[in-house]
This record gives sequence, C-alpha cells and structure tokens, in this order.
Amino acid sequence: MSSKLVIGNWKMNGRHAANLALLGQMLENADINRDGVGLAAPAVYLAQLASVLQGSAMAVAAQDVSRFATDGAFTGENSAQMLADVGCRYVLIGHSERRQYFGEQNDALSAKLQAVAAAGMVPVLCVGETLAEREAGQELAVISQQLEALAAIKGQEYVVAYEPVWAIGTGKVATIEQIDAVHQQIRALVLQCYGASDSIRVLYGGSVKADNADAILSLASVGGALVGGASLEVNGFGKICQAAKKLI
Ligand code: 13P
Repeated sequence: MSSKLVIGNWKMNGRHAANLALLGQMLENADINRDGVGLAAPAVYLAQLASVLQGSAMAVAAQDVSRFATDGAFTGENSAQMLADVGCRYVLIGHSERRQYFGEQNDALSAKLQAVAAAGMVPVLCVGETLAEREAGQELAVISQQLEALAAIKGQEYVVAYEPVWAIGTGKVATIEQIDAVHQQIRALVLQCYGASDSIRVLYGGSVKADNADAILSLASVGGALVGGASLEVNGFGKICQAAKKLI
C-alpha cells in the first residue's frame, strides 16, 4: 500500500480571515505541508484554499457534491465539474452527517460517485454504523449495504472512509481491535464485490487525535485518517500528519 492519506474535514467551520491564518500555519508545518495531506472545506471557501495552497503538495477536498452532473437549473448546487474547476482533488461522499441530516441514500450517492469520478477527482465514500446498529450486531450488514454504492464506479479510483457514527465528535474512539476488524472486512468486501485492486485505501475517522493517531495509523488495514475537530488546529493536526508520515 502507498503511504497513508490524511484528510482534515473542517465541516461547517471557517471564515475567510481565520482560514488564511490557519492555512499559513499549516503551510509552515512540514508534517502537514506535503503530499498525502488534504483539507475538506465548505464549498464557499474551496477557491480560497486552492489559491492559498497553490504550489504546495497539499490537496483540496470538497465535503459534498451535487448528484446532478451537468450544468442547469439546480439552484444551490455545486457540480463535480465545478469542484474540479476550482482545484479539488478529493470529494467526500455520504458523510454520516449528510446521511443523518439530509437523508442521503445509495441512489443519490451512486450518482455523486459517478459525477466525481467522471470529473477526474477521487471520491471518498464514507460508511459507518450508528451505536444502535452496533449494539444490535448489525454493523457489517449496514456497512456492506452502504458499500453497494461503489458498484456505480467499479474499476475506478476511490477511497473508503470508515467512520463509526458513535465515534464522531464524541471523543469515543473505536478500539484498535474494532477498527482493524471492520477495516479488514471492508477491504475484503470491496475486493470481492467491486473488483478493486489491493491498493484499496480505507481511512479511519472518528475522534482521531494527536494521542491516538500513532496506534490507529500503524494498523496495516488503515490507509489513513479522516480527521474532524482536530483538523481545525495546527498542532494536533500536525501530530496526526506526523504519525502518518512516519509510516511512509
Ligand atoms: P471528529 O474527528 O471530530 O470526531 O470527526 C470525524 C469526522 O466526521 C470526519 O469526517
């Protein structure tokens, strides 16, 4: 497997001036300012990120995309071609917050995956079970159903992010054993169903912080991290990126 990928997901945070200050600090940090690190910002700030990060090795990522691939009367939407046009390399698809608050399901997510791949970017399909689903022993069934969206881009490049919903923003991290078990199962499912090469990359997300990044990222089944809260601050994010860099 190639080196680990770290994507910081700012979620609905940021302002023009604060972004500029934070990006300036990140650019000065050699653990962050390198290939294999990306930042997912709100759509209105993507052009700002692309401009500030231009010439650096860091990648720009979008947090969502329209399921409509071609320009037209879709008020409020941002197409995959637009995201590619402003310089995005990755696009998060089906984050649990999109599933929870916007009711996103596989039909829309398949269309988004297709649109992103067709625009030449790499989709990051986010999957993960809720606490109730895990307590009912259904996590694999849920994840397997969520992975079915990948059939839309069979044979094309993509990344999967496993984010147990109960570990997002809660400070509750899945144990190393839980992470390894689910990651191995995701890799097996993807290989078996969607014909991916074994370079398939599965990121872990959910309360990844400076103090747990080493243990999580050193698992062979973990291809990187999708980092929420800790990506809004340079020191913690730098330590996570450093943990990933050690494994290059
Ligand atoms: P936290 O790292 O804040 O738990 O968020 C994880 C996440 O949802 C990243 O997409």
